[in-house]
Amino acid sequence: MSDNKILEAKYGAPTPMSELSRKRVTVPQIRGHKGDAEPLVMITAYDATFARMLDEAGADLLLVGDSLGMVVQGNDDTLSVTVDDIIYHCRAVARGSRYAHIVGDMPFLSYQVTAEEALRNAGRLIAEGHAHSVKLEGGAVMAPTIARIVAAGIPVMAHVGLTPQSVHAMGGFRVQGRDAEDADRIVADAKAVADAGAYALVLEGIPDDLAQRITDTIDIPTIGIGAGVHCDGQVLVCYDLLGLTPDLKPKFVKRYDELFDRGVAAAKAYCDQVRAREFPGPEHTFKSRPRPVGPVATVG
Ligand code: KIV
Repeated sequence: MSDNKILEAKYGAPTPMSELSRKRVTVPQIRGHKGDAEPLVMITAYDATFARMLDEAGADLLLVGDSLGMVVQGNDDTLSVTVDDIIYHCRAVARGSRYAHIVGDMPFLSYQVTAEEALRNAGRLIAEGHAHSVKLEGGAVMAPTIARIVAAGIPVMAHVGLTPQSVHAMGGFRVQGRDAEDADRIVADAKAVADAGAYALVLEGIPDDLAQRITDTIDIPTIGIGAGVHCDGQVLVCYDLLGLTPDLKPKFVKRYDELFDRGVAAAKAYCDQVRAREFPGPEHTFKSRPRPVGPVATVG
């Protein structure tokens, strides 16, 4: 047996060099993916355990999205999420992950009122939440705010198309940019946020030919959700891709598992075993140490 084989048998297979040199994904690396054959992978994460799981799976970016208002908090939309909520979840995701770049989502009204307030809140997501960049929704109208935050050294990911914080203005979570005029407006928005200094752009809920047109037009990576295959990357909500949202099955989501159903089955097995006194078994049970034996002291 070769020396290497002996060492391997004793200590297990060595860690590949690519793993040893793996470091946190950076903004320049993300920008470098523009037009790359291999798309970027972003997944939402809201806590340390999921962050660790998705990080180990190889996600390039973890987005602490305001979608947590729906999947974690149980609301019908994202509008009541606060900056403190995002900071709390960002901290957990930062602790649970090692490699992925962490994006903190700026919640409704944390950046729309003034650019100064936007900068202060973006700074809180970085300093208190330990996010590496921030994301905000909106096109040309948000360009000055993006420029202000970027000028302070905070990388900004922009988000156009279906922007969930405008759910009431859109009349629901509806696909955007189907008509030529609307499509041209979204292209103009994409150009404006790229020119303002955003390092990447989420394209949500738009036709695939429009996403391709935007991807071909701007020089920053596009990351699509419900925007077809031609983007520079893809993002999904982790609860959707794992099948944890039993009542929501949008067309653009592919479920890679049915963890809700499997969780119900596992928890039901636990309920049944407790009721049948089959759990805990001897292997889950602690025993007292036997009392020491020896001469018994006599009194008097
Ligand atoms: O909040 C979120 O999860 C998002 C993604 C859907 C892009 O913004």
